[in-house]
Amino acid sequence: MAGNKTALVVAASRGIGLGLAREFTARGWRVTGTVRSPAPELQAIPGVSVETLDINVPEQIAALQARLAERSFDLLFVNAGMMNNRADTSATVETEAFNTVMTTNALGPMRVVEALSGLVRPEGTIAVMTSVLGSVAANTGGTEIYRASKAALNSLFKSFVARQRKPQTFLAVHPGWVQTEIGGPNAVLDVATSVRGIADVVEKRSGKGGVAFVDNNNQEIPW
Ligand SMILES: NC(=O)c1ccc[n+]([C@@H]2O[C@H](COP(=O)([O-])OP(=O)(O)OC[C@H]3O[C@@H](n4cnc5c(N)ncnc54)[C@H](OP(=O)(O)O)[C@@H]3O)[C@@H](O)[C@H]2O)c1
Repeated sequence: MAGNKTALVVAASRGIGLGLAREFTARGWRVTGTVRSPAPELQAIPGVSVETLDINVPEQIAALQARLAERSFDLLFVNAGMMNNRADTSATVETEAFNTVMTTNALGPMRVVEALSGLVRPEGTIAVMTSVLGSVAANTGGTEIYRASKAALNSLFKSFVARQRKPQTFLAVHPGWVQTEIGGPNAVLDVATSVRGIADVVEKRSGKGGVAFVDNNNQEIPW
């Protein structure tokens, strides 16, 4: 069914992004994955094409946009993100550390969405990897700066969607708590389980339109 579908996964070097590249390839999609530096595990996936992108470098976003100008995708999934010192609060965080996590988790992903969303087919999906920690409604404290960065991403994403006059489906995705560098070894999900759920969500919701904040089990999360 997914025979000719195409996905562009931004940040596919490792962790959940690498898992998404594997999962969509296994489902018959043609996947393009981006990396900042050579990623042998991504290169090893049969059929995957690899592009270079640091989302914090606008010139690299523009160059990727130019390279892909003749392509179209059924899915743009901006997965890039980082964790900072979880103990930091607005009382303690250094300005530079704050700026780095805000840029990497909110502005950078949205610059990629802004630049590349035009490559997504009308029935396709534009997704960003957020976190349940970005839910303002569900904020019970802790991991304050990362929370703020994902809340900013959610807000910018909804603002972007409000500007669109397009029929695509827009998803802010929480992948679950996943065993990666960001999730840590105590996380409850392995990457394969998380990405299977996320790919199901994308396949179920594609073509339906609208915007949702949703987890790997297709459960909606309050913004
Ligand atoms: N793991 C969890 O439990 C969990 C929960 C909620 C949300 N998330 C989100 O899921 C996404 C993936 O995280 P992960 O858990 O798979 O962690 P990870 O293994 O640390 O992967 C982070 C990915 O982001 C890329 N990246 C970071 N900064 C980048 C930049 N400036 N430009 C381009 N790529 C950049 C990394 O590339 P390099 O290899 O080049 O560093 C890597 O591919 C993140 O957005 C994270 O916030 C994760």
